[in-house]
Amino acid sequence: MFRTHTCGELRISDVNKQVTLSGWVQRSRKMGGMTFIDLRDRYGITQLVFNEEINAELCERANKLGREFVIQVTGTVNERFSKNVNIPTGDIEIIVSELNVLNTAMTPPFTIEDNTDGGDDIRMKYRYLDLRRNAVRSNLELRHRMTIEVRKYLDSLGFIEVETPVLIGSTPEGARDFVVPSRMNPGQFYALPQSPQTLKQLLMVSGFDRYFQIAKCFRDEDLRADRQPEFTQIDCEMSFVEQEDIITTFEGMAKHLFKTLRGVELAEPFQRMSWADAMKYYGSDKPDLRFGMKFVELMDIMKGHGFSVFDNAAYVGGICAEGAATYTRKQLDALTEFVKKPQIGAKGMVYARVEADGTVKSSVDKFYTQEVLQQMKEAFGAKPGDLILILSGDDVMKTRKQLCELRLEMGAQLGLRDKNKFVCLWVIDFPMFEWSEEEGRLMAMHHPFTHPKQEDIPMLDTDPAAVRADAYDMVINGVEVGGGSIRIHDAKLQAKMFEILGFTPEKAEAQFGFLMNAFKYGAPPHGGLAYGLDRWVSLFAGLDSIRDCIAFPKNNSGRDVMLDAPSAIDQTQLDELNLIVDLKEGE
Ligand code: AMO
Repeated sequence: MFRTHTCGELRISDVNKQVTLSGWVQRSRKMGGMTFIDLRDRYGITQLVFNEEINAELCERANKLGREFVIQVTGTVNERFSKNVNIPTGDIEIIVSELNVLNTAMTPPFTIEDNTDGGDDIRMKYRYLDLRRNAVRSNLELRHRMTIEVRKYLDSLGFIEVETPVLIGSTPEGARDFVVPSRMNPGQFYALPQSPQTLKQLLMVSGFDRYFQIAKCFRDEDLRADRQPEFTQIDCEMSFVEQEDIITTFEGMAKHLFKTLRGVELAEPFQRMSWADAMKYYGSDKPDLRFGMKFVELMDIMKGHGFSVFDNAAYVGGICAEGAATYTRKQLDALTEFVKKPQIGAKGMVYARVEADGTVKSSVDKFYTQEVLQQMKEAFGAKPGDLILILSGDDVMKTRKQLCELRLEMGAQLGLRDKNKFVCLWVIDFPMFEWSEEEGRLMAMHHPFTHPKQEDIPMLDTDPAAVRADAYDMVINGVEVGGGSIRIHDAKLQAKMFEILGFTPEKAEAQFGFLMNAFKYGAPPHGGLAYGLDRWVSLFAGLDSIRDCIAFPKNNSGRDVMLDAPSAIDQTQLDELNLIVDLKEGE
C-alpha cells in the first residue's frame, strides 16, 4: 500500500497514529539538526520532520531530496510546536521513520506554488506541472462538481444523456468548421460539430423528448478570453414545449448550480430584457447589470445648438457615473484616449461635471447654455458630484457599442464589477436575421433552425429584417453563458428560412435534406438551449479566462504548445488521404 492517508486529511485528533503518506516534495528547509519537508498531493500539504539526532542516516537521505521528487514516508503524527494556521493540516506534522523515494524529478521550469514565477507560455508548455498547482486544480475540481450537479438536476427531470457523433457534416452556427479528411472517401471531409444542433433536433423526431449531453464543440473562430476553438456545452433539447417552459427549466438549473456550488440562493425570477432594449440602454446583447449607468439618448436636447459634432450625428448619448466628478483632467484625457483606441473607434468624448451647487460644467460649454445643460442633467437624473460622459457618431449601433465599452471601463474603474456579485438576465426577442457586410446577405442571428415569432411570420415575405425570433440568451455579469431557441418543426417553413438565407433549394437539400426530410415524418414542436460549461465554471471560479478551467487548453493562436499541435503530417499520411499541401507564399 502506497499510502494509508492523504496529505490533506490528518488533524490533531490523529496524534500518535502511525501513518503512510505519498506525494511530491514541495519544499524542504534545514534548521540546525532538523529537516522539514512539505509533502504535497491533490488533497493538501503535510509537514514531514527528520531529526538528525534520532536517525542521522534517514535525515541525510531527506537532505538529498529535490523539489518534486515523488516519495513515500511512514511515521507518527505529532502535534506541531509552531502551528501553520494557513493550512488545514497546520496543527500536526509527521515524525518520519521510513523514507522511500518512488521517483526523482528534474528541477521544474517554474515553482509549483500558488504564486508561481512561471509566465503563461512556460506554464502552458508544461501544463501537466501547472495542473499540480492548487489554483488550476481547484478549477478542474469545480468543473467536475458542476457536471455532476448538472447531471443530477437534469436526471431528476427525466432528461436522458445521449452521445452524438463528432465526425459529422457541417452545422452552421456562424463560425468556420474544423474539417477532417476521410481516407475511405477520397476528397471528402467530415466537419467537427460546432454544436450537436441538428442531431439533437433529430432525437426529438425520434421521440426522446428530453435530451442532454455534455458535448464537445469545435469552432474555428478568433479567440478571446471567453472563447476556445474546442469547448464544452451543456446541450439540451425538449419536445412539446414553449419558450416559457425552457426558460423555467434552465433558470431552475442555474439556481440549482448557484445553490449547490456557490451557496447562493437566487430566489427571484431572473430579469428579462428584449434584445432591442439591451442594445438601446447598454449597447450590447449581453449587458452587465451588476451596475447602472444606463444609456440616456440626448439627440433631442443636445442637437441644434451649433456644436457641429453633435448636430451632424445620428446618435448622441451618454452615461452618468455617480460620484465621479472628482475625475481629474488627466483621467478624463485617458478615458478619451481609451474610446479613441482603434478597437473601439470613437472620435472623441464630451464630459460634464455636476458641481456641488448643481450647475453643470462641460467640455463644450461654449455651445450650450446652462439651461440646456440642466435639461441634460435632468435626463440623467444626475446629482452634484456626478460625471456625465457623452459619445456621438453617425452610425447608431456602432456608437452604442462604443458607449458600451466606455460604460464597462467606467464600471471597472469605479470597482462596480464585483466578481462575487451575480446578476442573471434573460435577453429575449432577438432579431431573426442580421445583415452581413462580408457576405452581402442576411444571416441567421442564432441559427437557421430558429422559429420566428408566430406574429412576425407574415413579415418574412415583406420585411425579413424586422422579424423577431423565439430565441433567448442567458447572460450573467456581462457574459453570455447560454443560448437557445424554439425550433422550426415544419419542413415548409424551414425551406423558406433557407431561401431567405440565400440557399438555393439544391444547396439546402444537399446540406440539410436529412433534417427537412425528418420533419416530414412527424416532428414534434421542440426547442432547447446550450449552456457554455467553460464559461459557467470561469464565472463561479472568478477567472478572467476560460483557459484556466480547461485541463489542456489552446493558446491565443489556437495552438496546443504542450503537444505542439497543429503540426505538419507525414507525406505518407497525406498520400493516404489524397491530399496535396500547397502553401501560399508567406504561410
Ligand atoms: P451558441 O452558439 O449560442 O448556441 O452556443 C451556446 C453557448 O456556448 C458557449 N460558447 C462558447 N464557449 C467557449 N468558447 C466558444 N468558442 C464558445 N462558443 C459558444 C456560450 C454560448 O452561449 N446550438 C446552439 C444552442 C441551441 O440553440 O440550443 C448553440 O450552439 O456560452
